Amino acid sequence: MVTKKSTYVVGATADGYVINLHWGKRLTQLDDLNATVPLSDQSQNPPISYAMEELPAFGGLRYRDNVLKVDLPDGTRELNLLYSGAKSKDDTLLDIELSDGNRTDFKVTLHYELDTENDMIRRSYTVENGLKGRVNLDLALSAAWHPPTALDVDEKRELLTLAGEWNNEAQVQSTELKPGIAHTIQTPKGFTDHVSYPYFAIRQVPSEVNPGTEVYFGTLAWGGSWEITAHTNTYGYTRITGGMHHLDFGWTLEPGESFTTPVFIAGFTDEGLPGARRRLPRHARKYQQLSLQTQKNDSLYHPVLYNSWEAVTFDVTFDKQVALAEKAAPLGVELFVIDDGWFGDRNNDSAGLGDWYPNKEKFPNGLKPLADHVHDLGMQFGVWFEPESVNPNSNLYREHPDWVLYYDGVPRYEARNQLLLNLGLPEVQDYIYDHVSSIIEENDIDYIKWDMNRPYQGVTMHHYDRNPREAWVLIARGYQNLLAKLKKRFPNLWIESCASGGGRMDLSVLEHADQVWTSDNTRPDARLKIQYGASLFLPPRAMYGWVTESGDDNNVHIPLSFRFHTSFMGGLGIGANLNKYSDDDMKESTAWIALYKKLRPVIQNGDLDWLVPPSKVGEMIAVSQTTSKDQQEAVILAFRISSPFSAPMNPVRPRFLKDDVVYRVQIWLQDPHKVAEEYDMSGALLMHKGISLDGLNRAMFTSAVVYLKESYD
Ligand SMILES: *[C@@H]1O[C@H](CO)[C@@H](O)[C@H](O)[C@H]1NC(C)=O
Ligand SMILES: *[C@@H]1O[C@H](CO)[C@@H](O)[C@H](O)[C@H]1NC(C)=O
Ligand SMILES: *[C@@H]1O[C@H](CO)[C@@H](O)[C@H](O)[C@H]1NC(C)=O
Repeated sequence: MVTKKSTYVVGATADGYVINLHWGKRLTQLDDLNATVPLSDQSQNPPISYAMEELPAFGGLRYRDNVLKVDLPDGTRELNLLYSGAKSKDDTLLDIELSDGNRTDFKVTLHYELDTENDMIRRSYTVENGLKGRVNLDLALSAAWHPPTALDVDEKRELLTLAGEWNNEAQVQSTELKPGIAHTIQTPKGFTDHVSYPYFAIRQVPSEVNPGTEVYFGTLAWGGSWEITAHTNTYGYTRITGGMHHLDFGWTLEPGESFTTPVFIAGFTDEGLPGARRRLPRHARKYQQLSLQTQKNDSLYHPVLYNSWEAVTFDVTFDKQVALAEKAAPLGVELFVIDDGWFGDRNNDSAGLGDWYPNKEKFPNGLKPLADHVHDLGMQFGVWFEPESVNPNSNLYREHPDWVLYYDGVPRYEARNQLLLNLGLPEVQDYIYDHVSSIIEENDIDYIKWDMNRPYQGVTMHHYDRNPREAWVLIARGYQNLLAKLKKRFPNLWIESCASGGGRMDLSVLEHADQVWTSDNTRPDARLKIQYGASLFLPPRAMYGWVTESGDDNNVHIPLSFRFHTSFMGGLGIGANLNKYSDDDMKESTAWIALYKKLRPVIQNGDLDWLVPPSKVGEMIAVSQTTSKDQQEAVILAFRISSPFSAPMNPVRPRFLKDDVVYRVQIWLQDPHKVAEEYDMSGALLMHKGISLDGLNRAMFTSAVVYLKESYD
């Protein structure tokens, strides 16, 4: 398998084991690759345990991390999967077929799909039960990946992952891959979650003999509980496995049935972390495009949105929304969104979830008059939902108490006064689909925000004649189906994914959701760190950030300019209480929004990278650069969070420009109405000498926007 800049070679040994022969730099010649399992003359080091098997399945002398484990009808729990054939549809799709040694009707088909331009491979497999009895799957991770062994056993390899909590998502972690230690990231909570993201990157730490530019990186496209493990031994043999979390997982295959795992995506680059950061978001965007009808157009930009939550919280009334919409429209806002509180008996978080009809006191004539008014003001109209959640104090729960996840005789934990509906039940899916789509249709809604605010518990299926552990998968698939169905029926609908902030941002969600709410934390300094991590896998346009008042108190004042510049990094939103904005604030916001719209072709379609990561302790500086694919334009956002030593800031040195092109440089500081500096400079000099940002020298929370554009003067 060959992508633009990488080659992935799979071969079958003479015994029929399917192993990886190469994953890395693009090869010109394959004849010299031999499919053999490394020999070992030591009975305690069985060769098959060290082989880079594409699908290590529990059985035989395999003692490293396996990806598949089954119970066969005759009681055997070991597999001996051997090569039985291969099929390729075209240069980008390959299936490799395996069957069990003596039970050849038990089949596994490995699926490979190449994203050639981004050097990424999407892997999954299908298990097919052709036997006469039932097969239980106990473990069904999606793939095993094998980066090459280290050049030298003393070489250090770094594993990058993303940790987090609610309000503190996507914090980049770096650890050394240590022999004999399993490095596992995971969540058993039932959804993608904030505590970790299904993302890994492995790179060699630069040394005298190794420049450290080769990076292996990947992610899962799965919205349920998940796990990824990286393991290495003293000889540097490394295996990465990942997929659906094994805890409480189960799936039963009746004779003739099959099961396909979620997709595990990984890639290779020799362009360092910036190369990885460019490829995965581009890949996500490409697969996002597949599912969209209209929004796949790069010249259609994600709208500037206003969300009224922070202005009114649950007190969402027709009059108050009209007043806010009339303030938002002249700012240049393109999408007006009402958040929680518009439906059922919803005045706080104790009641109403599940009752998806407008609250009669707040909206006596329904939502349509507000939607019409917002449309008349020239904006799109959006609405918040939390479709899979239900308050016990709701009509839905009173009518269908058995639709929630629970066990009889076990405490039913209410988190945020709510329970979760079982999305694995077709009748629950129908209820949600019917209610959400009729609200959308009746009110000409252009956007929905799909939120989810509690972890799963009591995950099982009642009145179900199959394996109740299948619930985990059925629920995750149920969510996915609903997004797909809504998108199909309303191809122009924008969908934003949210789970208490960034709890649902993985590549399966992004296939149908246009954008994600990266965090509930809108404090700009926190947000810089969150965006730094999230930009490893999110396309910039999918990463929304709001301008709010968060972080301001009697001691701290974060200027509006700093807030806007932070939110300029992806899709722009305003969440501040506009009722509190002065005339000057309104004028300033209007000008920033106009500037954002001018820069957004670069910001939304370009590659986001970091010139100075925000995590650098002591310096308290962060600088990002988004570059258009043709390298003719770039937007640099520079932040000085504090300046403890009042030292001048070093010039910012851009990257990825064209040496011989002259760029027009424009710099804005606190004032959106005034270009603070403007000059021409060649790409080579810009990258070498850098851009001086004297405006960021002393005060706290200073920031700059720099726009570089190929100059034709
Ligand atoms: C490949 O295998 C053949 C036959 O075992 C052997 O002669 C040859 O040297 C091997 N080539 C490499 C590059 O290991
Ligand atoms: C099939 O079963 C026989 C008898 O147990 C065993 O010797 C043989 O290795 C098995 N073959 C394969 C390909 O698994
Ligand atoms: C919360 O909302 C419910 C239903 O509207 C209402 O009965 C209750 O009084 C509210 N609680 C508070 C503390 O306002």
